[in-house]
Amino acid sequence: MAEPVNYNDRVLIVGKTQSGKTELARHLFLSMNGAQRFAIDPKGLLDLGVEPVRNPLAIDWEAPITHYIPSVQDRHEYEELYDLLWGHRGPPMLVWLDEAMGPTMAGYGPRSMNLAVRQGAAMRFGHYACSQRPQNIAMQLRTEAEHIFVFVPPIHHRDLDELAREMLISTPDLTERLRALHESEGDFAFLWYCRATNEITEFAPLDLGGGALAPAELEEELELEEELEEELEEELEREGGAPVGGPGGPG
Ligand SMILES: Nc1ncnc2c1ncn2[C@@H]1O[C@H](COP(=O)(O)OP(=O)(O)OP(=O)(O)O)[C@@H](O)[C@H]1O
Ligand SMILES: [Mg+2]
Repeated sequence: MAEPVNYNDRVLIVGKTQSGKTELARHLFLSMNGAQRFAIDPKGLLDLGVEPVRNPLAIDWEAPITHYIPSVQDRHEYEELYDLLWGHRGPPMLVWLDEAMGPTMAGYGPRSMNLAVRQGAAMRFGHYACSQRPQNIAMQLRTEAEHIFVFVPPIHHRDLDELAREMLISTPDLTERLRALHESEGDFAFLWYCRATNEITEFAPLDLGGGALAPAELEEELELEEELEEELEEELEREGGAPVGGPGGPG
C-alpha cells in the first residue's frame, strides 16, 4: 500500500486545466487538521471559508487557515512571502501553492521555497503544488515530491517526460495508463505515485460530496457490495419482510 500523504510531505499535482487538481489539493489540505495551513492562490478563485489576505503585513500568524491572494504577483512578492513562511517558527506548517507556474518557472523558484522544499519535512514544513505544465515550474517541486498525482487525460508528452522520469516508468507507459484510466473511470480520475514505495495507484474521481479517497478497485468493490445489499433488500421485500431500519419500515 502507498504511504498516506502527510502534512509535511512535498506533493505535486499535475493535469490539464479543469482536470480536478485544485479539488484534490483542497481535499488533502483541509484534512491536515494538525498543521497551520497557508494557501497561496495566484488565480484568486479559491473558497476556503476564510477571508482572503492580500498583503504580507495583514497575515495573522495565529490563524489555523490562511487564504493568501497575491496582489502584485511579481518575484519580489513571492520571495517575501516564502521568506516569511519559512522563517516563521511556530506550529507545523503546510503551504499549498495552487498554481506553481508563474510564482516559479523552469530554473527558478523563490529562494525560501526551494529551501523549504528541500529541507522542509524535518522542519515540520510541508508543500503541496499544482500545475498544468510540470516542465515550466521549479525543478525541486518535481524532484523532491514524495507524492505525485497525475490527472487524466494525458497532458503534452514533453511534460509527461518529466513526470515519467520521476515515476520511474516510460513516457509511453504513463500516457497509456492515463488513457486507459480515462476510458474506464472518466474525467477527474487520477494516478497517485508514492515515491517511498514506488507504487502507482489508480483512483476513480474524488467524491466531492465527502467521503474518503479510495483506490479505483476499492471503489468498484464497494459498489459491488452496495449492489448485493440492494438485491438482498429487494428479495426481502418480495418475501414480504421489510429490511430493519430500511425505508418503509414501521414509523
Ligand atoms: N471529482 C470531481 N467530481 C466532479 N467534479 C469535479 C471533480 N473534481 C473537480 N471537479 C469540478 O471540475 C471543475 C474543475 O476542477 P478544478 O478546479 O479542481 O480543476 P483544476 O485542474 O484545478 O483546473 P485549473 O487548471 O483551471 O486550475 C470544478 O468546477 C470542479 O468543481
Ligand atoms: Mg486549479
